[in-house]
Amino acid sequence: MKRTIARNGKLLMEKLIFQARKSLVEPRLDRNRDSLLISWATYSPWLLDDGFQNCHSLIKDYTLVDLYRCYELWHLLGQVKHLDGDILEVGTWRGGTGGLLGRRAKELGLDATVYLCDTFEGVVKTGSSDKSYDGGEHSDTSAPTVEELIAKLNVSNIRILTGVFPEDTAHMIENRKFRFCHIDVDVYQSGKDVLEWVWDRLPIGGLVVFDDFGFASTTGITKLVHEKEMHPGLVCVQNINGHAVFVKTS
Ligand SMILES: C[S@@+](CC[C@H](N)C(=O)[O-])C[C@H]1O[C@@H](n2cnc3c(N)ncnc32)[C@H](O)[C@@H]1O
Repeated sequence: MKRTIARNGKLLMEKLIFQARKSLVEPRLDRNRDSLLISWATYSPWLLDDGFQNCHSLIKDYTLVDLYRCYELWHLLGQVKHLDGDILEVGTWRGGTGGLLGRRAKELGLDATVYLCDTFEGVVKTGSSDKSYDGGEHSDTSAPTVEELIAKLNVSNIRILTGVFPEDTAHMIENRKFRFCHIDVDVYQSGKDVLEWVWDRLPIGGLVVFDDFGFASTTGITKLVHEKEMHPGLVCVQNINGHAVFVKTS
C-alpha cells in the first residue's frame, strides 16, 4: 500500500514536471535543434553522497546551476585529484559552484587554490552568436556576497579575482597550472578567451567543464564547443545536461 502511494506520487510529480517544462520551456525551443529532454536514467548518486548533500544545502541559494550539474562538478573534481595544479572558475556570480569546488577540494585534501573570477558587474563581450544577451546580465552580486558563502563553507583555499578575465586579472595567476577549469560565462567570446588562456596551463588529463552547453539562451557556448571539439589533443564529452567537458589528451 505504502509503496503504491509512493509510486503514484512519483508518477504524478514526473507528469507535473513534464507539463511545467512543456508550457515553460517548449515555446522557447528552436525546432531545428532543440527538443524537450527528460532522461530515462534514474540513478541519482548525489542522494548517496553526504558530503555533497551537506555542501549543496549551503550553496544552493548562491547558484544558478541545477543540482545535476553541481553534482557533476563535485564528481569530476574527484576524477583529477591525482593531477597537479590549481582550480579555475570564470563566471562565479554569487559563488555557488565556485564554493562547491572549494569545499570539494578541501574534502579531497587537494593542495590547490581555487581561483574564482568575475566582473561582479555582469556578462561582458556579448556578440552576434549570443542571441539572448545584451551585456550586464547577472550583475546582482558582489565579492562580499561570495565571501559570505566562503565563510559558511568554512574553507580557506579560495581566492577571488575581480575584473574581466583574462584582461584584468589573469596576470595575477600567469605562472600557475590548472588541473580543472569551470567556464560559466554564458557567451561566446568570453568562453573562447578563457579556454585559449587556460589550455596550455592544463596537464594531460586536465578538465575543462563548459556550463551553458545546449541551453536555448546560451547559443554562443554551444557554437564554441562545436568549433573546438574536433581539435587534436582533446576528447569532448557532450553531456546533454547543460555541460560539455573537454579532457586534455596530449
Ligand atoms: C551565469 S553566471 C555564473 C553562475 C555561477 N557559476 C553560479 O554558480 O551560479 C555568469 C557570470 O559570468 C561572469 N562573466 C562573464 N564573462 C566574464 C569574464 N570575461 N570575466 C569575468 N567574469 C565574467 C558574469 O559577471 C556572471 O556573473
